[in-house]
Amino acid sequence: MLRVDDIYVSYGKVEVLHGITLNVAAGEAVAMLGPNGAGKTTLLRTLSGFLRPTRGRIEIAGRSVLETEPHQLVGAGVAQVMEGRQLFGPLTVQQNLGLGAYVRYRRGGRSAIAEDLERVFALFPRLKERRNQQAGTLSGGEQMMLAIGRALMSRPKLLLLDEPSMGLAPLVVSSIVEALTELRDSGLTMLLVEQNPDAAVAVATRCYVLDVGRVVHETSAQGLLADQELAQYYLGFGADE
Ligand SMILES: Nc1ncnc2c1ncn2[C@@H]1O[C@H](COP(=O)(O)OP(=O)(O)OP(=O)(O)O)[C@@H](O)[C@H]1O
Ligand SMILES: [Mg+2]
Repeated sequence: MLRVDDIYVSYGKVEVLHGITLNVAAGEAVAMLGPNGAGKTTLLRTLSGFLRPTRGRIEIAGRSVLETEPHQLVGAGVAQVMEGRQLFGPLTVQQNLGLGAYVRYRRGGRSAIAEDLERVFALFPRLKERRNQQAGTLSGGEQMMLAIGRALMSRPKLLLLDEPSMGLAPLVVSSIVEALTELRDSGLTMLLVEQNPDAAVAVATRCYVLDVGRVVHETSAQGLLADQELAQYYLGFGADE
């Protein structure tokens, strides 16, 4: 579904990603673990077309997307839950969800959109209760649910998530993880970047580890759990913040 082959990405003259290679098969949930500043957000912004690599190839569903604009990628089935969630604060929960489906209004399918709305509400009942509340007044966890729900409204084939556990209390993280696990089990292809190895391992079946712009490790989720030294090292990532 996603093939990234040796990409280099720079901001001006400063190179931040130094030859990243990764792939995500259809139906697979993969995590990219890495500390602050490793380049996780840069990688996702590159995959969703906001940044262009200076070298390397990116293929989604067998097609090169190096020339593709971000909005075309959404139409092609790539949705991203961004760092900071990027909701429309003054709009209600339901209006934000409706915006997630905007690429599909043109093609008709209003009843399909209504069905998807119900599916999102089934996944996150909290959003249904709060459908008329302004997004900006939701709690952090509810905002994350809404950001995920909005991404799902575009009916993605590939969902990219930037640190869905960030800044949330453990109980809230568990409910987000539970929803992502349900999506994984339904066959949705996902790439999530995380600093939180517990959340990553709970959702993903395979993990890459990114450190200062390079992939330094690739392992199964089981492998990460089983390798105490590796887990310790990467669990230690967050400790010195
Ligand atoms: N717009 C930008 N201009 C210049 N440098 C940038 C820009 N955005 C990010 N960087 C730099 O690129 C590097 C990687 O940043 P990035 O945001 O991708 O890391 P990250 O892994 O997402 O970190 P975090 O866990 O804190 O979100 C950092 O050194 C950062 O300072
Ligand atoms: Mg980031």
